[in-house]
Amino acid sequence: MQIKKLYITKTKFNNLPQECIVLIHVFYPEYSIELTSKEDRSDISIEINDDSFYIQLGKKCSSYRRQIDNDLRRQIKVALFERLVDQSGYYPPWGILQGIRPTKLVFKIKNTLSEKSSIPHILINDYKLSPKMANLALEVASYEEEFLQAPSASNRPLASIYVGIPYCPTRCLYCSFPSNGIEKYQQTHQEYMKALIKELDHILPLVHKKHALSALYVGGGTPTTLSANELENLLLAIHRSVPLDNFQEITVEAGRPDTITEEKLKVLKKYGIQRISINPQSMNQETLDLIGRKHSVDAIKDTFNLARKVGIQRINMDIILGLPNEHISHVEHTFKALEELMPSEVTVHTLAIKNSSRLKENQEAYSLANRDEMENILEYSREFLIHRMDMKPYYLYRQKNMVASYENIGYTSGQPCLYNMQIIEEATSIFAFGAGASTKIRNQKGQIERVENVKNVDIYIDRIDEMIERKRIYFTENKE
Ligand SMILES: C[S@@+](CC[C@H](N)C(=O)[O-])C[C@H]1O[C@@H](n2cnc3c(N)ncnc32)[C@H](O)[C@@H]1O
Ligand code: SF4
Repeated sequence: MQIKKLYITKTKFNNLPQECIVLIHVFYPEYSIELTSKEDRSDISIEINDDSFYIQLGKKCSSYRRQIDNDLRRQIKVALFERLVDQSGYYPPWGILQGIRPTKLVFKIKNTLSEKSSIPHILINDYKLSPKMANLALEVASYEEEFLQAPSASNRPLASIYVGIPYCPTRCLYCSFPSNGIEKYQQTHQEYMKALIKELDHILPLVHKKHALSALYVGGGTPTTLSANELENLLLAIHRSVPLDNFQEITVEAGRPDTITEEKLKVLKKYGIQRISINPQSMNQETLDLIGRKHSVDAIKDTFNLARKVGIQRINMDIILGLPNEHISHVEHTFKALEELMPSEVTVHTLAIKNSSRLKENQEAYSLANRDEMENILEYSREFLIHRMDMKPYYLYRQKNMVASYENIGYTSGQPCLYNMQIIEEATSIFAFGAGASTKIRNQKGQIERVENVKNVDIYIDRIDEMIERKRIYFTENKE
C-alpha cells in the first residue's frame, strides 16, 4: 500500500500534522508524504472529536477514547504508531520519539516519579521504545546524572566555552558544513583569527567573572587546519582571559589525520590539552576515498600513535555507520582496527543524509545499507564496544534524516567527555565563539536563551563588532 497523503483535523497542536508526517516517514522512508484536505482522497486520515479520535488507514478505521487533553498529542502518535506497525510489520526502535535528546525524556519522567524501576516501563508503554532502546536511554541518563549534577565549587553558575574553526582540508561527501576548504582558508584565515581573538578578548573575561568554567571545546570544521603557530596563538589568547588550568576539561577536535603534525600535537600537549579527536569515520580505504577524506588508513593509525607518543592520553575516534557501499563486513573491519588502537573514547554516528551535502545532491549514485542491515550493524557496534572493548555508552543523541532513524552514541572506557554531555542535556551555559557558533545561556529557570553568530566567514569578519555587542548586552543587562 502506498502512504503518501495524510488528512488530519485542524487542532490547537500546531506541530501535530508535521510530527505525524515524520512518524509515517520512519515506516515508509521511500514516500514523501503531504497533507491533504478532507475532500481529497487520503491514505491515512486522523479525525479528532470532543471525546474520541479516529484513525483510518487503508480499509480499517480504529476509534480511540480521548483521555487527558494535554496528553492528546502523545495518544494520537501512539495510536498512529501501532496502526503503522500493524500495516508495515516494522517496529521502529525509538518508538514515537522524534526529539534529538531521548535522555531528556528520561530525566523528565524521573522528576515526576518516585520509582526508578518504572522508567523503562513508561518508555516502552507510553512512548513505544523497544526494550533495548529504553534500557540504553536509562543507562546513559543514569551515567550522566553523576557528572552533570556536580555543583560548582564557587557557587557561581557553570559555563563551558566553544571555539569554532570553520575550515577543512576538503569537504566530505556527507557533510553539510559550509564549504570553507583550504582555498578559503588561505584567503581568510588570518583575518578570521584576528576577529575570533577579538571576540574572545572582549567576552571571555565577562564570562569568567560571572561563571565557574567547566569545559573548553575547540571544534569545527577542523581546528588542526590551523598552523602550529596559529593554534598556539589561539590557546594563548584564551589563556589571557581564563588561565587554561581553570578548565576541568579541554578538547581540541583535531579530526582529520591529514591536518595533524607532530609540531601541532606538541603545542596541544604544551598547553595542557588532555583530549583530542582523531576521526577515522571508517577504516576501509575505498570508503575513505569515496567520502573524500584525502588520507590513508595508515595515516589514521600513524597520527594516533604519534599523539600517544607526544603524551596525549584521551583520544576520541568518530565512526559513521551506514556509509555508502559499506556492509557489515566493512564495519567489522573498522571495529577490529579500532580495537588494535584502543582509543579512550569512540563516538558512533549513524549516517544522516543532510540537506546541502554532496551525498544528498547525488544520493542515487550511492548504495546505502537497508533497514535490516543497519539494525545488524548498529547491534554489532554496541556489542563490540560494550563487551569487547569494555566501554560504556555515556551520551546519546538523535538527528533528523538519519538512515532509518537511529542514534549517535558516545562510548568511553574511562572518563566521559563533559562537554558532550553538557551540550546534549543543555545542563550548562555554553558561550560559543567564531563563525556559526551558537551560544546557549541557561537562565535561572533552566530555560535556554540563544545568541547566534553569523555562519558565513566573510560576514563574521565584517560584522565582528556586532557579534561582540550581541553577547556583551547579556552581561550588561545582568540577565541572570
Ligand atoms: C562536525 S564533524 C567535525 C569533525 C572533523 N572535522 C572530522 O571530520 O574529523 C563531527 C563528526 O560528525 C560526524 N558527522 C558529520 N556529518 C555526518 C553525517 N552526515 N552523518 C553522520 N555523522 C556525521 C562525523 O563523524 C564527524 O567526525
Ligand atoms: S566531516 Fe569534518 S572534515 Fe569533513 S567536511 Fe565535515 S567538518 Fe570538514
